[in-house]
Amino acid sequence: MPVQLEIVDNIALVTIDNPPVNALSHAVRLGLQNAVREATAGACEAIVIQCAGRTFVAGADIKEFGQPPKDPWLPGLLEEIEAAKVPVVAALHGTALGGGFELALASHYRIALEDAQVGLPEVKLGLLPGAGGTQRLPRIVGVKAALDLITRGTPIDAKSAQVLGLVDEIVTSDLHEAAFEYAKKLVAAGAGIRRSSELPAPEADSAIFAEYRKQLAQRARGQLAPQKIVDCVEAAVTLSFADGMETERKAFMECIASSQSAGLRHMFFAEREAGKVRGLASDTPHREVQKVGVIGAGTMGSGIAMNFANAGMAVRLLEVNNEALQKGLDTIARNYAGGVKRGKMSEQDANTTRERITGTTDYADLADADLIVEAVYENLELKQDIFRRLDGIAKPGAILATNTSYQDVNKIAAATGRPEDVIGLHFFSPAHIMKLLEVVRADKTADDVLATCMALARRIRKVPVVAGVCYGFIGNRMLQHYGREAQLCLIEGATPDAIDTAMQQWGMAMGPMRVFDLAGLDVGYKARQGLALEERGDPKAYRVADALVEMGRLGQKSGAGFYTYDAGSRDYTVDPLVEELIVKEAAALNVERREIGADEIVDRLIYALINEGMRIVEEGIAQRPSDIDVVYVYGYGFPAYRGGPMHYADTVGLKNVLARICEFRERLGAENWSPAPLLEKLVRDDLSLAQWSAQQG
Ligand code: 3HC
Repeated sequence: MPVQLEIVDNIALVTIDNPPVNALSHAVRLGLQNAVREATAGACEAIVIQCAGRTFVAGADIKEFGQPPKDPWLPGLLEEIEAAKVPVVAALHGTALGGGFELALASHYRIALEDAQVGLPEVKLGLLPGAGGTQRLPRIVGVKAALDLITRGTPIDAKSAQVLGLVDEIVTSDLHEAAFEYAKKLVAAGAGIRRSSELPAPEADSAIFAEYRKQLAQRARGQLAPQKIVDCVEAAVTLSFADGMETERKAFMECIASSQSAGLRHMFFAEREAGKVRGLASDTPHREVQKVGVIGAGTMGSGIAMNFANAGMAVRLLEVNNEALQKGLDTIARNYAGGVKRGKMSEQDANTTRERITGTTDYADLADADLIVEAVYENLELKQDIFRRLDGIAKPGAILATNTSYQDVNKIAAATGRPEDVIGLHFFSPAHIMKLLEVVRADKTADDVLATCMALARRIRKVPVVAGVCYGFIGNRMLQHYGREAQLCLIEGATPDAIDTAMQQWGMAMGPMRVFDLAGLDVGYKARQGLALEERGDPKAYRVADALVEMGRLGQKSGAGFYTYDAGSRDYTVDPLVEELIVKEAAALNVERREIGADEIVDRLIYALINEGMRIVEEGIAQRPSDIDVVYVYGYGFPAYRGGPMHYADTVGLKNVLARICEFRERLGAENWSPAPLLEKLVRDDLSLAQWSAQQG
């Protein structure tokens, strides 16, 4: 039974017990309704609603979304609870979120454990609070605080909630006992019933809604739910409670039916799935990691070192000489100072954390490290040399990781006498900020090394995705195809700005040409030079980028690349010189330039990603399609509300994706556009990727 009722001294104790997070599934809603009806039908003088396990209700059951709704619906159930004729007390611990917090808002009093958190995070799922949250919250905290809480979706702690009037009492321990005593005190004092729905409508100038709509159009570009939230909170001001609830209901239904919410809900589960490694026993032991060594104090190495220091670990940062080391330590100091300036951490915390990172130029100082991450530039021989050296000094059982983006981790591992201890930990730049971590499982990587690194990723607040060994692993291998199409569109007729605008309007955080400029055009140039001609792909693709590098235009860092930049700034301007160069290179290649619309740009770039993603799944480089979605959303600025490239393929329909790829094959050639065999197979079998993935187990 997910809901139990116990009556003690005329106080009804309603306990929800639905692990892991007490989500409001149909069974819970039904149980709650029965318990409250039974309590109010008897002689109970107060009701306490509490939860067993690690948390108060963390929300509606997201797994039930998309299925036909079943009575009792949450909004009606909460109205019934609020209408109770005896005081209802919600006892909050853990995370009272979404529908869970709405249950608390419909209760008459709220008592919380001091480390509890409350919030309405529905916007992160492309939704809005659909059980009265948009109507009750502004009546308690006012319009501005409500708009901030609901449009950001970030939970707040119990203390802040108390300041806003959302929590009546905070206790430090024994919550259930305290809630029981609190209810008895209310009864003894003859305290009345407080219904937030009966509070006067909040007041607000209509300008505030216009202001939020404008802000959100930028902050949450292209997203439906944030705008709908503003409509609902405005309705709390202008309409009766009942009419406001109706507005909320309609907006909620619209959001839940949207592809944006489907994409974000997919991402919620995809992120959690990605942490599970197929074939790895859940009781695989972990190695202890407290001391970390990082080799290379460039931008990547410095950022990587910060991650471990932020999580409380001692870090030794190694460079070849004092000058390079000092440069890295200065970068780290600057990054922490920036964090303090932006209010992310106190100066004292920044100093304590920074002091966990110490520098060295002596490999012997890494001898006691539990984990060593190599982050030097992309050169296989150099990396192999370093691993050979590490083999000589690292203590037995130390995990030896490479942050390589492209090199063969098996070859790096083979340079040591302990390949089972070697793994790839591929961070994304800036490494102290980007959430993605590709965990590259080499042929001989030991299970406990992999399990340790997956857990470690969470300790340093990253989202880990397991990848197999291949050139570029998951993310960069796919990116090559995306980048190639961007470059070809350029030669065939588009401008850098047209390409970036099309992709940004579609939802990418940054257009590809700006990304090339940000990453540095010389990086790809050098990588291409290191490949045999036949490995470099379509020779047309990088003509312009290579010409720019040869002109000294290396991207943002040199003040010019596909665009020109003001010194030290990201602000860019279109440069007619680049357009002239493109026209010249196209003529040299005998390419007749034509008008290329935004639709074609988007389809070519995104379908190139999807097609390669299909191959990656089929080869087992990614464990499942949704892992690829996590890589693209957390590592490459792919819009989360589109659910990542593979989910997007299902949204468009694999049949349509295949048809468009075949059309490109006819028009643009089979070399770049041969459909992935898995795509053809799924279309033949009339299966979506999600269905196929579920079949794989
Ligand atoms: N519904 C269904 N399953 C849920 C869930 C929910 N609301 N919240 C969490 N879960 C599941 C997770 O999928 C995971 O399952 P798994 O073990 O099979 O992978 C398990 O519970 C544990 O979750 P986490 O791994 O995320 O555990 P954490 O301890 O790290 O985090 C949490 C707990 C903070 C509660 C986090 O899970 C969370 O943020 N959950 C979502 C909260 C949310 O968005 N609530 C609003 C829902 S929408 C709503 O309420 C609409 C309403 O207004 C009508």
